[in-house]
Amino acid sequence: MFNKSIRSKNLLVTGGAGFIGSHVIRRLVNKYPEYHIYNLDALTYAGNLENLIDIEGKENYTFLRGSITDEDYVSTIFKEYRFEGVIHLAAESHVDRSITDPLAFAKTNILGTMLLLNAFRALWKDNWKGKRFYHISTDEVYGSLGKTGFFEETTPYDPNSPYSASKASSDHFVRAYGETYNIPYVISNCSNNYGANQFPEKLIPLFINNIIHNRPLPVYGDGNYTRDWLYVIDHAIAIDLVFHKGINKETYNIGGFNEWKNIDLVKLLCQHMDEKLGREKGGSEQLITYVKDRPGHDLRYAIDASKINRDLGWSPTVTFEEGLSKTIDWYLANEDWLNNVTSGAYQQYYELQYQ
Ligand code: NAD
Ligand code: DAU
Repeated sequence: MFNKSIRSKNLLVTGGAGFIGSHVIRRLVNKYPEYHIYNLDALTYAGNLENLIDIEGKENYTFLRGSITDEDYVSTIFKEYRFEGVIHLAAESHVDRSITDPLAFAKTNILGTMLLLNAFRALWKDNWKGKRFYHISTDEVYGSLGKTGFFEETTPYDPNSPYSASKASSDHFVRAYGETYNIPYVISNCSNNYGANQFPEKLIPLFINNIIHNRPLPVYGDGNYTRDWLYVIDHAIAIDLVFHKGINKETYNIGGFNEWKNIDLVKLLCQHMDEKLGREKGGSEQLITYVKDRPGHDLRYAIDASKINRDLGWSPTVTFEEGLSKTIDWYLANEDWLNNVTSGAYQQYYELQYQ
């Protein structure tokens, strides 16, 4: 358990300018004035300081631009700021990009995680009281489910994409450093997140953006792939809880109890978009286009989140209808954000991916 003490603690959050990281940073900065939160982010295509405009001036928040793969920089900031806790989200996170450039995923997700673990270990040596390394991982490490069953914390790892293999590997290193060097750690494996500030390469924001611009909605394969969706704020709440109350060396699965076949989700999204844009009923559905399948596409993910529910009292607070509606509203109200992130390199990515 990571206990707060009266004196201030320096915490490092990596990847805080990204989608989930920005929601985590906002929560921690606002809720814990006694912490100083350092956000280490390389600002890759997925990192965006616009996501944090509302908290950038807070006294207990500092942004550090750098890469987790830069050994000297990582070691310098650990020495300088003496982080007692680390919440590690920085990663290459998109499966399709991992298929095009697997090595980039190995570098950031495996090597980057190891360099953080090394720096944490070098700083505290055997003085581990009150310290914690929290590694944020994914349900994709468990591979693919058939039509039934759920991923439990004890499900054997069976990753199928270079992304999930790199995340699985980083999970193993965290666990190995815990066993070998006594680094106190926790890991959580979460299902698909959705919400504000998600980069429009992932299904929901990509399709919202395409509907706005009347572009085709590229559904992979037959569209019968299933994902379990969780509103990002509920993930941030779970991360706060696991960081503070999770038991050392434990893993927690986090999920929405909310499975959707892609094609059903896309149709629901189209209905909402028609209503919100004042379009004719069924208009957006006309944009659905079946395209070549993703190689190694996992059929189904579904999380059994009963452990975090039972042991830490967490469950999702936002229903999918409500979360999806809020998410669409956010993108419609933030078209400048969408336009900014889809200018430049995005076009090149899009053409290559969906040619
Ligand atoms: P994201 O791609 O939106 O953000 C990743 C962030 O990491 C960006 O700000 C990027 O600039 C930063 N980053 C990338 N490489 C870096 C490097 N070398 N050094 C420093 N910063 C770097 O990702 P996300 O969707 O917010 O995911 C965050 C974490 O949560 C990842 O570890 C991911 O595997 C995990 N996760 C994501 C989901 C999901 O549905 N999005 C679900 C479960 C777990
Ligand atoms: O399960 C957690 C994971 O969820 C996270 O670890 C990953 O970081 C995150 O990217 C996400 O992975 P997915 O591959 O499940 O998400 P994505 O949004 O890319 O795709 C969701 C489903 O939609 C998947 O079955 C593929 C399909 N899809 C996706 C895109 C981008 C399409 O049919 N067409 C598309 O254009």
